[in-house]
Amino acid sequence: MEKIIDENKQGEHLILEAKEGNNRKLFIESYGCQMNFSDSEIVASILSKEGFNTTNSLEDADLVLVNTCSIRDKAEQTVRKRLEKYNAVKKINPKMKIGVLGCMAERLKSKFLEEEKMVDLVVGPDAYKDLPNLLSEVDDGRNAINVILSKEETYGDIAPVRLNSNGVTAFVSITRGCDNMCTFCVVPFTRGRERSREPQSIIEEINDLWSKGFKEVTLLGQNVDSYLWYGGGLKKDFKNATEMQKATAVNFAMLLSMCAKAQPKMRFRFSTSNPQDMTMDVIETMAKHDNICKYIHLPVQSGNNRILKEMNRLHTREEYFELIDNIRRVIPEVAISQDMIAGFPTETEEEHQDTLSLMEYVKYDFGFMFAYSERPGTLAGRRMEDDIPADVKKRRLNEIQALQREHSLYRTKQHVGKVEEVLIEKASKKSDAHWSGRNTQNTVVVFPKENYKVGDFVNVKITDCTSATLLGEAVGYSDNN
Ligand code: SAH
Ligand code: F3S
Repeated sequence: MEKIIDENKQGEHLILEAKEGNNRKLFIESYGCQMNFSDSEIVASILSKEGFNTTNSLEDADLVLVNTCSIRDKAEQTVRKRLEKYNAVKKINPKMKIGVLGCMAERLKSKFLEEEKMVDLVVGPDAYKDLPNLLSEVDDGRNAINVILSKEETYGDIAPVRLNSNGVTAFVSITRGCDNMCTFCVVPFTRGRERSREPQSIIEEINDLWSKGFKEVTLLGQNVDSYLWYGGGLKKDFKNATEMQKATAVNFAMLLSMCAKAQPKMRFRFSTSNPQDMTMDVIETMAKHDNICKYIHLPVQSGNNRILKEMNRLHTREEYFELIDNIRRVIPEVAISQDMIAGFPTETEEEHQDTLSLMEYVKYDFGFMFAYSERPGTLAGRRMEDDIPADVKKRRLNEIQALQREHSLYRTKQHVGKVEEVLIEKASKKSDAHWSGRNTQNTVVVFPKENYKVGDFVNVKITDCTSATLLGEAVGYSDNN
């Protein structure tokens, strides 16, 4: 899911407004996908009721939690380094407890406690509501673990606290888990079966965010297009349960439309779409609502049919092109981004060339590109030898990245000269005199601050670009304010 944080960097800390009366200090750090960052907000919310306020000082913490990622080996190595650091601090402050959350907790389970002895607490992605119980065990001096995956848990009833954010953009989870079983991917094992959250609780969260001043929501799921809620309605109005389920089911296109209508001035994004599950309904719904951003993250992983099949991606290159053509026909101004894997087992040089030629056809606006990393327990990990030498993977990855940079620049140049609506999110990293925001296509736009403020929708005339950023000047507020 968009997007992978640079795995070499230290994770992001979550700081919330202190709650009066709370006297324990929580240091919580997140790695990996947006879902993890969103989950950490749920965890902090649960622990706030247990007397914890967040701190950004590791040394002061009573409880250190790290929300982890297993997607590639490098992501796990980064977390291990952090655990070593926490343990070094614990030597000075022996009262400090350390817990591991998320996908590594789920994958490695009690190994963390038994073999590695690096943590006091291990909690999988579906067990956060059990944290109060687990913590009382830890307080009593025992190690605690809950890595049970659930078929139902969506945390729909927990209001995440978001006071450390920019106050403008927020993530809202709509599905958890994944049933797609791509052969390279560990997510179905660490996050469990796919389940959809009740639409009403999603709408309520969105309304609440709007009332707090948020202007943009990204709906999150491993595979948002397979969102499906059966239920609701009154039984007595239907002949039988199947008829009721059919009549009251909400699919992703319907959910998008419900969100867009519930808050017509709020912007909506979503991530991630799987090509095999994306329907024309979704594309048409995007076109119909001005407040659904014209941007689709549509990972393809490879441009070769044999490799796609080995990956258990259930579409062909030709079907992917057809989808791209349909999207562009209905939403001409759309931006599309990719995820690619270089050096999947048995990939030949020719098959790698197919990936490059697919990219030439689509000319993605941006992308997230990775060298294949074998994950224990996945089908590819069990059945296929990781036979592409590291230097070959790296060279193929470099070629994919270089081509993407060309295409990104080709795409950003198309914006120069246009006036585009931008939602201001924060000060630009490079200059405090400039704002940074994004246009509907999700491209970052930087422009002089003048009298505008964070949260304003501003029309910006684009005057210049790099391959990643648009530069411009504000020409006034947009109609959306
Ligand atoms: N459907 C999810 C995918 C999560 S993983 C979503 O919401 O985006 C994000 C990306 O990591 C995948 O699209 C894939 O390109 C990459 N990835 C997953 N497993 C990988 C592996 N074993 N090696 C290299 N890259 C991998
Ligand atoms: Fe992973 Fe494929 Fe699901 S990449 S998260 S198994 S759609």
